[in-house]
Amino acid sequence: MALFGKNKKDDSGAGAALAQELVLPKHVGIIMDGNGRWAKQRGLPRKAGHREGAQTFRTITRYCSQVGIRYLTVYAFSTENWKRPEDEVGALMGLFKSYLKEALEDFQDDDIVVRFIGDKSGFSPELQALMDENEESSKNRPGMVLNIAMNYGSRDEIVRAVKNICAKVEAGSLRAADVTEQLVADHLYTAGQPDPDLIIRPSGEYRISNFMLWQSAYTEFVIMNKLWPDFTKADLDEALRIYASRNRRYGGV
Ligand code: IPE
Ligand code: IPE
Ligand code: MG
Repeated sequence: MALFGKNKKDDSGAGAALAQELVLPKHVGIIMDGNGRWAKQRGLPRKAGHREGAQTFRTITRYCSQVGIRYLTVYAFSTENWKRPEDEVGALMGLFKSYLKEALEDFQDDDIVVRFIGDKSGFSPELQALMDENEESSKNRPGMVLNIAMNYGSRDEIVRAVKNICAKVEAGSLRAADVTEQLVADHLYTAGQPDPDLIIRPSGEYRISNFMLWQSAYTEFVIMNKLWPDFTKADLDEALRIYASRNRRYGGV
């Protein structure tokens, strides 16, 4: 894995022209990391970093759709993030609420389909209702599919899949011998979607932090040395260029 990324804020991007120039990934995953450090650098509370990160999420999501990415999965809140201080978790829940109410309406103009992956039952009834509403109102749009991973942990996802498969075996509707890789994939939150071709992690951390463990078996990783609130369209272009230069072999030669 290589470390990339400039430090200055650059809001221009090559946009749809990139699709002419490069082999684009069909599915991109982003681990939106570094909000806390961004705030700390400025002597601000961590929640100020989350607010700024939410703006970046908005910009980069729309940009991915304009570039021609078909599926985008963003990691917004992990099953482990509940262990953070109460006021930080509270601030994040407040942000999710305002974003689900307002900003997601933006995505209407870009025809973006909004889906949530993760265990919704961990959220307040109000938040769950907003999530359902967003999914319902966007489901027939023709554009990019945006998966927002909230209360998402890939181990949790795999355990759920195993439980559901076991229940079918117990009920007699499935035989153990029928369990295949495809069947497991069909029981994940991402059922029916292609695996991510590219996962980007800003903030310079070289780890996966429980994100798409099954789905990333052959994913290309790009680690960028930029905190998420500073991440720009030009950084996305750079990640796409790096991706296009990779030689994917899937175990072959
Ligand atoms: C990512 O930024 C946002 C969430 C995990 C919710 P962090 O809050 O992890 O920021 P750092 O990694 O502490 O800088
Ligand atoms: C991963 O970031 C989760 C999200 C970005 C939502 P974390 O900040 O929680 O991961 P670690 O603790 O650095 O591994
Ligand atoms: Mg972090």
